[in-house]
Amino acid sequence: MIISCSNEKGGTGKTSTTALLGWELSSLGYKVLLVDCDPQANLTDLMIKTKSRENADIIIDPSLFALLINKQDLRKGVIEIKDNLSLIPVASDMNMFSRWVDKQDIPESDKVTFLKKALEPIKSDYDFVFLDVSPTMSLTNDNVFMACDWLVVMLQTQQRALLGAKNFLEYLQTNLIDNFNATVDVLGILPVLTKGQSRIDNSVLKSAENEFGKDNLFENVITAMERVKRYDLTGITENKKNVWDKATHSVYIAVAKELINRLGANK
Ligand SMILES: Nc1ncnc2c1ncn2[C@@H]1O[C@H](COP(=O)(O)OP(=O)(O)O)[C@@H](O)[C@H]1O
Ligand SMILES: [Mg+2]
Repeated sequence: MIISCSNEKGGTGKTSTTALLGWELSSLGYKVLLVDCDPQANLTDLMIKTKSRENADIIIDPSLFALLINKQDLRKGVIEIKDNLSLIPVASDMNMFSRWVDKQDIPESDKVTFLKKALEPIKSDYDFVFLDVSPTMSLTNDNVFMACDWLVVMLQTQQRALLGAKNFLEYLQTNLIDNFNATVDVLGILPVLTKGQSRIDNSVLKSAENEFGKDNLFENVITAMERVKRYDLTGITENKKNVWDKATHSVYIAVAKELINRLGANK
C-alpha cells in the first residue's frame, strides 16, 4: 500500500518521520520502499547518508523525473539502503515535473494520475511504499496524493496548525476526491510536539480532538528529540548501546506499530 506523511507546511517533520517509519517497519520485517518526490531531495540526502557516510555525493542516475518522462520501469531507480528498505532517490530536475505533465496532451484526469500509473507495477513488490512530498500544492503533489491509499496528516502542535490541517483536508476533498475520484483516505492525524511547550501542545491536542474526533488522532505522538536533528548530518544510526538512539527509535517504533494496527482496523 502507498502512504504519504503530509500537510500543507514545511518543517513539520514529514521527511524525518517518513524516513524513520520506513526504517522501523523494515526492521519489523516489512518490505519498504521510500520514494522521494520532493525536488529538494531531503529524504534522498538523509537515506544516502544513512547508507554510506563516505559516499554522500552519489550521482542520481536515472533520476525519478527521467524515469517518469521516459515511461521507464521505476525499478531501475531503486537503491537498497538496508535489509527490507529501499529508496527511489530524486534530483532537482523533479522541479520540472509539474510543468512537464501539464503540457502533455492528455486529459486532466491522466495528468493527476501519471505517478500512480508509474507506481502500479512496482507497488506489489513492497508491503509499504512511502511518498515524501514538498509542502507546495502543485500538480506534483496532486500526483502523490492521487497515488496514495492512505495519508498520515502531520499536525504540529502550534496555534495555526489546526486551521492548516483543516484547509489541507478540504483541499484533498474538493480538488482530488470530488474532482478526480481519488481513493485516498486519512489513516490518522499524527501530532508532532514542539519542544518545551507542553501547555500549548495540550491545548492544541484538545482542540484537535474536538475538531477531528479522538479516534482520528494517533495515540502515539512524535516528541521533539535532538537526535533526529543530528540524523540530518550523520544519517540514521541505531547503536544498540546508545541511549539516545534507543529512545529515538522507540518513539518511531511505537508510531509504526500503531500505523499497522490502524491499517488492520481499517481493512
Ligand atoms: N522529532 C523531531 N525532533 C526534533 N527535530 C525534528 C524532529 N523531526 C524532525 N525534526 C527536524 O526538524 C526539521 C524539519 O524536519 P523535516 O522532517 O525535514 O520536515 P519537513 O519534511 O516537513 O519539511 C529538520 O531539521 C529535522 O531534523
Ligand atoms: Mg521534507
